[in-house]
Amino acid sequence: MELESSKSIHDIRHVEQQAARRRTFAIISHPDAGKTTLTEKFLLFGGAVVEAGSIKARQGRRQARSDWMALEQQRGISVSSTVLQFEYNDLVYNLLDTPGHRDFSEDTYRVLSACDAAIMVLDVAKGVEPQTLKLFEVCRAQNIPIITFLNKYDRPGRDPIELMDEIEKMISLRPTPLTWPVGIPGNFLGVIERESSTFITYERTARGAHVGHEDMMSMSEARSLYKKEIEKAEEECALFDELDLRHDQSTFLAGKSSPLFVGSALTNFGVRHLLGAVAELAPQPSPRNDVDGRSRDLSSPFSGFVFKIQANMNPNHRDHIAFVRVCSGTFTRGMTVINTDTGKPFATKYASSMFGSDRTTVEQGFPGDVIGLVNAGDLRIGDTLYQDMPVRFPELISFAPEIFAYIRSSDTSRTKQFKKGLEQLEREGVIQVLLDERQPTNPLLGAVGEMQFEVLVYRLENEFGARVEIIRTSYRFVRETEPETAVKLSTLGGVLVAKRRSGHLVALFENEYRLKRIENDHPEWILTPIVGSGTLH
Ligand code: G4P
Repeated sequence: MELESSKSIHDIRHVEQQAARRRTFAIISHPDAGKTTLTEKFLLFGGAVVEAGSIKARQGRRQARSDWMALEQQRGISVSSTVLQFEYNDLVYNLLDTPGHRDFSEDTYRVLSACDAAIMVLDVAKGVEPQTLKLFEVCRAQNIPIITFLNKYDRPGRDPIELMDEIEKMISLRPTPLTWPVGIPGNFLGVIERESSTFITYERTARGAHVGHEDMMSMSEARSLYKKEIEKAEEECALFDELDLRHDQSTFLAGKSSPLFVGSALTNFGVRHLLGAVAELAPQPSPRNDVDGRSRDLSSPFSGFVFKIQANMNPNHRDHIAFVRVCSGTFTRGMTVINTDTGKPFATKYASSMFGSDRTTVEQGFPGDVIGLVNAGDLRIGDTLYQDMPVRFPELISFAPEIFAYIRSSDTSRTKQFKKGLEQLEREGVIQVLLDERQPTNPLLGAVGEMQFEVLVYRLENEFGARVEIIRTSYRFVRETEPETAVKLSTLGGVLVAKRRSGHLVALFENEYRLKRIENDHPEWILTPIVGSGTLH
């Protein structure tokens, strides 16, 4: 008995210690700002790749191998998310990749539900771009603390102070520089580390393929080398002191301020500082609340939730991988877990971690880790899995669609395949399927962007042999509603009431004017905005 309790204390400590070593985060950016390059440099620092450049090479291999990703190749986009794990300075980093295209914002939203922090990468020449805004909104909806990286400082760009203003104005996030660049964009000499008042220079390596040396020197030494540039940077730092632009952990965690770093992912400048910020500032995994708001201790028996499903990645064996974020306990490959929703057991014989699309079998996982469960055809996004002690985590909220279309099978002999395919793709979260009771045979689809329809049509045809027709509608705005309001809404023109799979009712509006008018005329009606609707929608 005594032995058993001391063992469990040991187990509890072990899980807590392992959780404290985890940092689970994502990088968000407008396409081309440098997310892939930065990812690669993190892996280089973590020793997970020997030479930077290999991710792109892997990407090439992956695209050549997979069939539905041929679509990605055609369109030059990346639809699939991957999870990369690496160790650096005794911490375990789980870097969750998010799709760069705005049309896949809902996917990003779900990935961020499995993250504890995010890095927002901005191109110093471009500042806050449209996709940055959309992704930022997604982060805010998930209450994710954000670290900002002003990238590409090795080439000409905008004044970083101007960019700080832009961040504050456009996304109401107060940037607090922890390091500050010396020299203008294109002539990057190094950074001042504000906390220690030291100057750091970087060694250049060809395209930053290897981790270069960093030299630290006192400010007086630095002044003797680069008088003009150092003085300018020191003046700027003095201004930040005056404005009290210092890192503050509580406003950072509350999503009100963002530690800011300036650098160049390509040449590795500033990458170590950024990784250090993830280690020191990003929160470690914390106990997750269940549907009733009770938190489940990190050391409770295993639990996790499915935030992403990727199917048919390899045409040779059609499979489903469900990505599960571990919330409590220890995951051990081979353990049997229960799906809270169905009550069915699931044997985790095949569990993998992903490196790009190269799988390695994973034996153990701790809170913060992401496990890829193979052959997970029955699981759906948002499902909770547990061992021993039942739990149900809150459902992942559906994002507000911005375009709607009916879908119809163009070949009546393949109706079965059409239904099966649509159900599967909905389960994976490729698209939202709504029911318009006036047209029960034609499912109504909701998407954030056109490309989701393209992926759906392509996959239905290529994986399920179902040719379909998409019939667009003019609805653009959505609100959640309830039965009483729905009855009244359904008598109005320019409004459509539909049902979600969960049974919740939604109202669709053709334009914002119509919506605002109804809201003004009937303030007592229930019309609740949905996450991702943005300020306008
Ligand atoms: P993304 O994943 O956010 O879409 O961006 P990605 O890393 O692919 O970077 C987009 C382009 O910007 C790449 O150039 C990349 O080399 C370049 N880049 C990224 N970080 C930096 C930086 O710090 N400084 C400079 N000067 N360039 C940077 P490309 O020409 O599209 O590709 P490649 O031929 O260089 O691979």
